[in-house]
Formats: sequence, C-alpha cells, structure tokens
Amino acid sequence: MVEVRVATADDAMAMARAHVRSWQAGYRGLIAADYLDGLRPAEWARRYSFDPERSGRHTLVAVDGDVLCGHVTFGGSRDDELADSAEVWALYVDPPRWGTGISSALMLAACASLAKAGHEHAFLWVLSTNVRARRFYERMGWTADGCERTDVIGGTTVDEVRYVTSLGRHP
Ligand SMILES: CC(C)(COP(=O)(O)OP(=O)(O)OC[C@H]1O[C@@H](n2cnc3c(N)ncnc32)[C@H](O)[C@@H]1OP(=O)(O)O)[C@@H](O)C(=O)NCCC(=O)NCCS
Repeated sequence: MVEVRVATADDAMAMARAHVRSWQAGYRGLIAADYLDGLRPAEWARRYSFDPERSGRHTLVAVDGDVLCGHVTFGGSRDDELADSAEVWALYVDPPRWGTGISSALMLAACASLAKAGHEHAFLWVLSTNVRARRFYERMGWTADGCERTDVIGGTTVDEVRYVTSLGRHP
C-alpha cells in the first residue's frame, strides 16, 4: 500500500536517489547525457530543505512500506507577477513506479494542501519537450497558460512552458 506523507530529513538520501533516477530517465534525450550521468544523489540530498517555515516549500513523499517512490515539492510561486500564487516546484517519481498512480496521488495531495492553505490556482513549469509529463499534467486538469521561458540546465538551453490549474477542483 502506497502512502503519501510529509517528508523529513531522514528521507533525504532515498529521495535524492529516486530524484536522480527520475531525472536520468525522464530527461534523457532532452538535456545533455554527460550532465545526467554525472548527477550525484549525495549532493542533491544536501540541498533539500525540510523546514517549510524557513524555505516556504513543502515536500510530500510517496512510500511503499519502507521504499520511497517519489516526491512532490510545492509552495509560493517563484514568478514575480504571481507573488501570491502557488507553484508545484517539483514532481519526481522513480521510473519503475511510473504508470502506477503514484504520480497522481502525489499531485492530488499537493493540490489539496495548497487549496487548504487558501490558494485558488497553482502554476508549474515543465520542459516543452517533456511529452510524458505534459500529458500527465493535462490529464490531471492542468492547461498551458501561454507563458514560456528559456532556461539552461546542465549546459543545454531548454524551452519551458507554464501550466495552471484551478484548485477549486481539489476540495
Ligand atoms: C512526469 C511523471 C511524474 C508522470 O508520472 P507517470 O506515472 O509517468 O504518469 P502516467 O504514466 O500516469 O501518465 C503519463 C502519460 O504519458 C503517457 N506516456 C507513457 N509513456 C510515454 C512516452 N514514452 N512518451 C510519451 N508519453 C508517454 C502515458 O500514456 C500517459 O498519457 P495518457 O494519460 O494520455 O495515457 C513521471 O513520469 C516522472 O517522474 N517523470 C520524470 C520527471 C519529470 O519529468 N517530472 C516533471 C517535471 S516538470
């Protein structure tokens, strides 16, 4: 039985291992292979914050017994013009668990938490070429809002598109 719960500092290393595997599979062919192959979970684990009071970010993890399968991070928007809005910052699921419903369980829990905090909408950014994630978001009721930006990830210039959802549908 998969459970979604609040992440703690003790989850950092397992979270980082699944996170790196998710990048390496999900972004293969979308950003530089050398960069993906060089990702080190221990470095990522050190960068996480598990203190929402300090970081403004909340992280939930999906666990199957004692196996951590993925995480979602959310909080206030990083976009200046959306200062009072919510953003889903990250959703990363271990590749063997793709297509199992874990991703939707994490997303629904994040949206429910943001709705409970009083937000009406949430935004997220996704690589324009990330077809699988875009289809997932669209099926979950998110739509591209027409906003686009360029970023550089691991030396690759990438286009990103912004999605929005109404949290009214997540009571
Ligand atoms: C994005 C992610 C969370 C989605 O979770 P998931 O469990 O894979 O999602 P699902 O399998 O339920 O749905 C994915 C959709 O892509 C489709 N799909 C499956 N394989 C695919 C492929 N190789 N290429 C394109 N689409 C594919 C599925 O059929 C489904 O579409 P549908 O609803 O139209 O049937 C997960 O794949 C992941 O962690 N990816 C890597 C990290 C990532 O990209 N995170 C998002 C960053 S913004």
